[in-house]
Amino acid sequence: MIDRETALKRIEELQSLIRYHNRRYYQLDDPEISDGEYDRLMRNLSDLEYQFPDLISPDSPTHRVGAAPLEKFNTFRHFTPMLSLANAFSDKDILDFHERIKRFLDRRNDVRFILEPKLDGVAVNLIYEHGILTVGSTRGDGTIGEDVTQNLKTIQAIPLVIPASTAREPDVSTQHPVPERIEVRGEVYIEIESFKTLNHRRLSEGEPVFANPRNAAAGSLRQLDSKVTARRPLAIFCYAVGEVRGMSFKSHWKVLQTLSQWGFQINTQIRPAENINDCIRYFHQMNEMRSNLPYEIDGVVIKVDDLSLQDKLGAVSRNPRWAIACKFPATQEITEIEDILIQVGRTGVLTPVALMKPVRLGGVMVSRATLHNLDEILKKDIRIGDAVIVQRAGDVIPEVVKVIVSRRSGAEKIFNMPARCPECGSEVVRLEGEAAHRCIGMACPAQIKERIRHFSSRGAMDIEGLGDKLVSQLVDAGLINDPADLYFLKSENLLTLERMAEKSAGNLLKAIARSKNPPLEKFLFALGIRHVGERIARILSHTFQTLDRIIPLSVDELMAVRDIGPEVSGSITRFFHESANRMVIEKLKTAGVMPREAESASDRSLSLSGKSFVFTGTLVHLSRSEARQIVESLGGSWSEAVTKKIDYIVAGESPGSKLQKAQAAGITILDEKGFLSLTGRD
Ligand code: IVH
Repeated sequence: MIDRETALKRIEELQSLIRYHNRRYYQLDDPEISDGEYDRLMRNLSDLEYQFPDLISPDSPTHRVGAAPLEKFNTFRHFTPMLSLANAFSDKDILDFHERIKRFLDRRNDVRFILEPKLDGVAVNLIYEHGILTVGSTRGDGTIGEDVTQNLKTIQAIPLVIPASTAREPDVSTQHPVPERIEVRGEVYIEIESFKTLNHRRLSEGEPVFANPRNAAAGSLRQLDSKVTARRPLAIFCYAVGEVRGMSFKSHWKVLQTLSQWGFQINTQIRPAENINDCIRYFHQMNEMRSNLPYEIDGVVIKVDDLSLQDKLGAVSRNPRWAIACKFPATQEITEIEDILIQVGRTGVLTPVALMKPVRLGGVMVSRATLHNLDEILKKDIRIGDAVIVQRAGDVIPEVVKVIVSRRSGAEKIFNMPARCPECGSEVVRLEGEAAHRCIGMACPAQIKERIRHFSSRGAMDIEGLGDKLVSQLVDAGLINDPADLYFLKSENLLTLERMAEKSAGNLLKAIARSKNPPLEKFLFALGIRHVGERIARILSHTFQTLDRIIPLSVDELMAVRDIGPEVSGSITRFFHESANRMVIEKLKTAGVMPREAESASDRSLSLSGKSFVFTGTLVHLSRSEARQIVESLGGSWSEAVTKKIDYIVAGESPGSKLQKAQAAGITILDEKGFLSLTGRD
């Protein structure tokens, strides 16, 4: 155990290092270290904090990774209510709002306003006591919300502490005391691009997709397990304060400036306005601009700047008189679904798309809407010929909100997913637990680039020099239509490609030829069979040794293999059953591609047969995946979790909490040296 003083020094070093890398990753989008290295820094820090809990500072980056899951959220009463805004839908409504203000204040001349985009997300309240974030809650009914502190702490853009002085603003006149207490309010949201990536990931993992960024933000914030929230791309813009003790502000503009100096994110589109005509102009400008913004907005908010005037104006029922939300014209319309088509994505996922009678939505003509997947169609009961409400939010692809059932004539047709891929005719399957249907064709034109990229990648056939760009060029030029075509390429074909000289063509052909006799496991992995990653490919190859033995295996025969379950077996048999795939394999054989026969597992000494391992901490002489491979190759197995069934825990440098758990459970502990000696690698 290290002494307290050294620990404190190391904790401070690690914290500032992690903060630096957070900034590179989240703000500059230019990371300097790998995810693995970052994880190691975090692990080192949390191990030290575990040993010295009193040295944990309130702004430690470890607070951001999520805490133990909750049973339920507690409620939280806001110190001052979170009001809502009255709406304006037209220029006239805005002028009326202005008249009401002037009348109430008994003023002729204009008041100054602050203009802000109105984000469509989830309103939250962040409480800082003496500068430390203590509670973060949702708006709820405006008086009582839900305590989602753990989740909000995972959002990088939310400061964990308000700095005592602002290093970024060394000018003394702009420095602020830290208030005794302050409620900071803002909107948690997800950017449109991040939303698309998130949904893509969910679709490929068979999870239901979110209908829009707002739902994704709300769903992410209401996770009982904050580790889930930590992986969601949540962002925040702050736009107000509630109770403030120990300092005071004169204007809303000053509030925003101060928040910004403390490190809160303030929307860059916020502007001051000297009169109401400026406000109307801004409303129209933002409506024009909205589809160019990286996040969704549904209007703008006009706020009186002077806080003493805000006070005078007060509120009527829960709406302040000093602010108004100007809503953009609705982007929902009614149209009719004329047909439902299938789009095949590059990973083979089939997405149903509605073809609709064209309608104008948010200034753009729209005739297609994504229906995501079959579950979504069934849930909304969408049929061909239905009248539907469609909406387009920001830049997001239009979507069908709901069917107008009362308009049905009875002639509407129920949609079914096709049994064969519309692009290549191969079988379409839906794997257990997944929402997506997929085409399993190895030569499917929609997937071909992705499949060839995978086929030639390092862990697969390892064809050096065949990068993404070249794959694209080869496919676009019609030179390859499936992975086997690579082996029929000739120098004269390659020379027709842009920027391909004789020397590089020769090198590529050599690299392709060199890949002809891969180990069987690499070949199996290269085929791109769903659920057959490197580990399963290795198990298959050691168990059956040759491809010819694997192709005709039945589900039952595959299931008899340890570590291969029903999903994997089903996926393998379906893949080899598909005639398009068998043709590609035959073509590969004709081209001279011959995977090397694998060593049988029983030929080798299986000294670790029946033994299971858990690894924790960093190994020095080999990577964790190499260590796991060694265990497997000797007949053993490994797992992530420490359970009673584990025989050995291998502890590398800075081991995690698994080590303590294993110690408590009386599991044999090995260091790296011990592991190498047990497996005969020392
Ligand atoms: S000010 C009394 N500013 O709109 C002031 N709200 O109906 C209350 N919102 O619950 C909030 N962007 O969720 C304000 N720039 C902005 C906003 C904004 C979005 C949301 C917020 C609030 C609702 C008010």
